[in-house]
Parts: sequence; structure tokens; C-alpha cells
Amino acid sequence: MTDELETLIAGLRQPQKMISPKYFYDETGSKLFEEITQLPEYYLTDTELEIMETHIDEMAGVIGEKASLIEFGAGSGMKTRLLLEHLHSPAVYVPVDISEEHLLDNQRHIQDDYPDIEVLPVVADFLHPFDLPNPKTMPHRNVVYFPGSTIGNFEENDALELLRVMHGEAGEDGALLIGVDLQKDPAVIDAAYNDSAGVTAEFNRNMLRHLNREFGSDFDLDAFEHRATYKPDEGRVVVELISTREQEAHIGDARIEFGRNETIITEYSHKYTLDGFAAIANEAGFSVDKVWTDPRDWFSVHYCTRD
Ligand code: TRP
Repeated sequence: MTDELETLIAGLRQPQKMISPKYFYDETGSKLFEEITQLPEYYLTDTELEIMETHIDEMAGVIGEKASLIEFGAGSGMKTRLLLEHLHSPAVYVPVDISEEHLLDNQRHIQDDYPDIEVLPVVADFLHPFDLPNPKTMPHRNVVYFPGSTIGNFEENDALELLRVMHGEAGEDGALLIGVDLQKDPAVIDAAYNDSAGVTAEFNRNMLRHLNREFGSDFDLDAFEHRATYKPDEGRVVVELISTREQEAHIGDARIEFGRNETIITEYSHKYTLDGFAAIANEAGFSVDKVWTDPRDWFSVHYCTRD
């Protein structure tokens, strides 16, 4: 049995069953996630973009000339493009992703659209320190870019670890530009993770389809429902799959039993306060120099420098 399958089974054997959110993103899952970002209820993407558009000149100003833009996760998104278009003579764009396919696809588009910017993709698991490539132009500073409030998908210790890796990659005089979703009216958050068109439900259940295909398991997709609940006291959304009946599923040589209404947690999405994010950034060795928010204070973009 592979380590991966063993880890999966171990997660399903815990009293509270868990599956890693990395299994969301097969081909269908990636498409469904794209759809989520365009849903009217999913305010995160639009709000972050609005903040970037409103403050891009100021962002480019604080970042300064000849920066190396190091994006954690290969986004060919609008926010990255906005930065590449407004930064002052960027030295290099370095997208970092664990999936080579994802990365090369992304790199081709960005390179075609910005022929004057050097693009040097790095295949790496950014949860651990990795080597940066050597650009033709010596950068004045490294700026790690982490949009989308993906930091919220990590539990506190892991988020801190990741920020420390970013701190290391930023190097001396380096900085971090990061999108962070904020605590707000629970109804707004609940709606974002329980859209009326059911795309998020399909996205969540697709994880089981992915496992069935990849590991030959036999989860019955029709016997699991989507649930996402914002817990204000925990400051996070808990995303679960609920077993609608007593049932069992098989994966590898394991038999997994489910009671009626028993759940598998598939993802957390933590929502921060501005002070809460500043505190964890400080712990990782950053100071928050500048924070931009939208008029409703739903989302934030932080520019952090190394202490
Ligand atoms: N990073 C996204 C977020 O936390 C991922 C996400 C969006 C997600 N919608 C989801 C994960 C629904 C699981 C289920 O907002």
C-alpha cells in the first residue's frame, strides 16, 4: 500500500473522519472551483480583485522597483496580471506549484502575454523551503504573493509554518503580499459556502468521485450531502460531507463504517480579524506595514515586511 493511501485511510479511521482538501482538485474539481469563484454568493474573489484594482498603484509603490514576484500556487489569475502590469520594472515572476502540469500551462500564458518579464516557474511543495531560481536581472527585493485567502485553509500551526517558509523565501528586505478573508456577518459567509446553484455541494462531493477513480474506493456519492457551517467562536467555516444513512465504504483493504449523519471534514476556511492576522504574521517574523480593505471590510490584503 502506498503512503498516500495509508494516510487517507488513517484520516478516515479517526473518530472525526477527515480527508485532505488536496483531493478536491482533480480536473473536474478545478473546473468546479473556477465556477465557485464566479458565483454571486462567493464574495472573496471579486472583493479581493476590487481591493487590488483600487490600490494597485500604492501597492506597486511600496513594493518598489525590480522586485521578484514569487507566487505561492500557480495562478494565472487577474490579480497576478494586475501586479505584473503595474509593478515598476519587475525583475522576474516565479510561480511555485506542486503540479508541473498546472505550472507549465500557467507559465506559457503569462510568458506570451508579458514577453518582457522573465518567468521562471518552480515545481515545489511550498509547505517546505525550496531553492529560488537565478533571474537575469538581480532583484531589489523578493515579494511573496499569496492571494485568495488560501492561508485560511490552514489550521493555526500549519499557517504559522507556511508563513515562516514565506519569511525564508522572502529573504532579507523581502516582503509578503497576502489576501486574507475577514470575520463578518455569519450569514454572508454561510451563503458563500452554500451557494444556491449547488456548485459548492458538487465540488465537495466530487472529492469522493476523485477518490473512487484514483484509489478504486466505492463511496456512494448519492449517500453523502454537502454541509458548510461558519462557526463564529472558532472563526472558521467547517466543510463536511454528511452520510445520509448508515453505510460502509471500502478503500484499499480498509472497510470504513458510517453512521447516519456522521461526517467527514474536507476543509476548514479560517476567517481572520485584522489584529488576529497581524499577530500570526508577527509570530512568523513579519510586521504588517500596510493593510487594504474593501468598503464593507469583508476582505483584506496585507503588505508585510521582515522584521
Ligand atoms: N480557498 C477557498 C476558500 O476557503 C476554497 C473553497 C472555496 C472551498 N469554496 C469551498 C473549499 C467550498 C471547500 C468547499 O474560500
